[in-house]
Amino acid sequence: MNRATAIAHPNIALIKYWGKRDTALNLPAVGSISVTLDELATTTQVRFDPELSADRFVIDGVNDPLAAARASRCIDLLRFRAGTDMHAEITTGNNFPTGAGLASSASGFAALVVAADAALGLGLESPELAILARRGSGSAARSIFGGFVEMFHGEADDGSDCTAQPLLEREQWPLVVTIAIVSRDRKQVGSTVGMEHSRNTSPYYRDWVDHAHTDLDEGRRAIAERDFALLADVAEFSCLKMHALAMASRPGLVYLRGATIEAMHRVRELRHDGHGVFFTIDAGPQLKAISLPDEAALVAAALGEIHGVEEVIQVGLGQGARVVER
Ligand code: DP6
Repeated sequence: MNRATAIAHPNIALIKYWGKRDTALNLPAVGSISVTLDELATTTQVRFDPELSADRFVIDGVNDPLAAARASRCIDLLRFRAGTDMHAEITTGNNFPTGAGLASSASGFAALVVAADAALGLGLESPELAILARRGSGSAARSIFGGFVEMFHGEADDGSDCTAQPLLEREQWPLVVTIAIVSRDRKQVGSTVGMEHSRNTSPYYRDWVDHAHTDLDEGRRAIAERDFALLADVAEFSCLKMHALAMASRPGLVYLRGATIEAMHRVRELRHDGHGVFFTIDAGPQLKAISLPDEAALVAAALGEIHGVEEVIQVGLGQGARVVER
C-alpha cells in the first residue's frame, strides 16, 4: 500500500513557452501547444513510508540531492492535500538522455505527480494533476495529456486556471517526430534559468509575450483543421522567435550547434521540395522534425546523413501520464 508506479512521456512544444509571470508559483507568461511523444518515457515509483525520516530520491540508480529537493517541494503539495507528513522514496528512470533538451523534466514531474497521487489515494482529476505538475516544471503540465495539448498562461494570481487541456487525440492526426541527436552533453543553461535571464535582459521579451496569443490562435486552428502547412509555418516561427529572444539576452544564450543549423536547412529543403515536414528546437541542440507519416522514412534518412548528427530517433505521438502499477 501507499505505493504506485506511473509512466509519462516527454512532450515537444510546437508553440513555445519561454518566460514566467510568477516564479514562485511557476506560472508561464505565455501559453503553449505541444505534442506528447510515444516510446521515450520516464517511469517513476513513489512509496510513502511512515518509517522514513526524509524523502529519498534515486534517478537512474543514482542519488541526486538537487533533483531531490525539487521533487520534494512538488510532493509537499500532494502531502498537503492528503493531510499527511509521511516521507517518500522516489525511484525514477528515463529511457533517454537526461537534461539534453529532450524534456526530461516534463515527463519527470508528470510521472511523479501521477504516481504520488495514486500512492496517496487522492484520485485528483487530470487538470488538477496538470496544475501540480506545472509547479515542478511548466512543460510537465502538458505531459499529463496525450496527443496535441495546450497549456494556458491563465489569469489568476494563484495559478488556479493555469493548467493544460488536450486539443486533439493522437489517433486523429498521427504525425511522426524524428529527433536528430546532436549532442548528449547536459546543457549549460537550463530552461528555468535561461528564461528568467531572457525576461531580465532580452530587449525582445515584451514583444514575445505580447504576440504569443496570435501564434496560439494559429496553432490551435492548424491542429483543429489538420492544416499541416499552417502548423509548419507557425511552429517554425515560434521556435525561431524563441531562439532569437534567447540569443538577444545578455550574455546571449545559444542552444544551437552547427549540426542543428544544418538540419534546419535540410528540413526546409525537403519542405521546399514538397515534403510535409517542419522543425522545432527546444533549449538544447537536438532538432525535432515533425512530419506526416508517409514522409517519416525520408526524413530519418536525410537527418541521419548530416555530419554531427549522432543518432536519429523516430517516435509517434504518445498517451498522457498514467499509473501502471499499484
Ligand atoms: C524551450 O518547462 O523546462 O522547452 O517551468 O522552468 O521547468 P520550467 O521550464 P521548462 O521550459 C520549457 C522550455 C522549452 C519550450 C516548451 O517546452 O514550451
